[in-house]
Amino acid sequence: MELWEAMELDDTEQLVLCQDKGSGLKAIIAIHNTRLGPALGGCRIWDYTSEEEAIRDALRLAKGMTYKCAVSGLPYGGGKAVIMGKPDPARREAVFRSLGRFIETMQGRYITGIDLGTTVQDMDAVRHETVYVTDTTGSLCATGEFTAEMTAYGVYLGIRVALKEVYGTDDLNRITVAVQGLGKVGTFLCRYLNDAGARLIVADVDERRVLFAMKQFGASAVMPDQIYAAACDVFSPCALGGILNDTTLGQLRCRIVAGAANNQLAEPRHGVLLNGAGILYAPDYVINAGGIIVTAAELNGCNGAQAKQQVERISANAAGVFQSARTEGIAASLAADRLADQRLVGAAP
Ligand code: NAI
Repeated sequence: MELWEAMELDDTEQLVLCQDKGSGLKAIIAIHNTRLGPALGGCRIWDYTSEEEAIRDALRLAKGMTYKCAVSGLPYGGGKAVIMGKPDPARREAVFRSLGRFIETMQGRYITGIDLGTTVQDMDAVRHETVYVTDTTGSLCATGEFTAEMTAYGVYLGIRVALKEVYGTDDLNRITVAVQGLGKVGTFLCRYLNDAGARLIVADVDERRVLFAMKQFGASAVMPDQIYAAACDVFSPCALGGILNDTTLGQLRCRIVAGAANNQLAEPRHGVLLNGAGILYAPDYVINAGGIIVTAAELNGCNGAQAKQQVERISANAAGVFQSARTEGIAASLAADRLADQRLVGAAP
């Protein structure tokens, strides 16, 4: 792998390799862009098959955070830390304290938090060494419940804006939403949609979660591979990334795609193809930003109610993206990328 080339490709500012033999830490911190403010983005632990895979993941995830913050109007940039391998449980605290010391040397250029595979206890260990960490014990996002609920709330608001764009009204009565994935976010989303009168079709590989949604929200269920072809107004991916691809696009029978999953488009061209097929795609990082908005709000001293209020700006953000897509005659996915790029170019270097 050519490191400079990989960094230049997405104009990544900084790549930090952290090694500590004492704790066994091997971590990569990628800072994609700090033009709008310090880089914000959680720390992921994954058993990567190679260093290259870990570096590429860090670069990709950090860039995603830059775009999410920029399009959400947050005064933060994008960064991400990834820890390679599975730390020995006996040395786990030492690993995170070591990471905390590396983060401390960066003097606030990067602020970490929970991501895949990391916990509030891990962030507490980081907190022993640096203040540049969120999601510690007692914080709003510590359990993940509030973050997931606020992510779902933002997606719910995004769905309403998309309905207004397509049908001229955001009334959810008589609207059918097909939800893929009934995890933390998907289940909160079903609750918001059901309360607003929507009909639900759901799918999950975990049957217990499907049964819960059927009982709680009167949802009807389909097999996981049938959710793409479900006749509905809105298809809401809340499980995996990359699910809008050459295989699934032709199956869709919806007018809108709007969900929580990160990186839903397998490739950027799939956003253009959706637009060509007359399906409005609500860009994932525009409407699933509830979690990061809440984190940013807490860093600025807000309480839960104030943070929730800030999530409501997702409605205006999504409406702005749809409007520029309409006036420029381009796919909403491209309009969102352009908006983020403009904010980054417009910010002082
Ligand atoms: P989760 O792990 O709690 O739930 C994921 C659900 O998807 C599980 O119920 C799982 O059984 C199901 N699933 C897995 N493969 C499936 C398949 N092939 N078909 C149907 N269902 C399948 O995850 P969570 O936190 O609810 O997140 C959902 C998505 O939203 C993820 O892509 C995540 O990256 C994204 N996201 C989550 C945020 C959060 O605050 N939790 C914030 C922003 C994005």
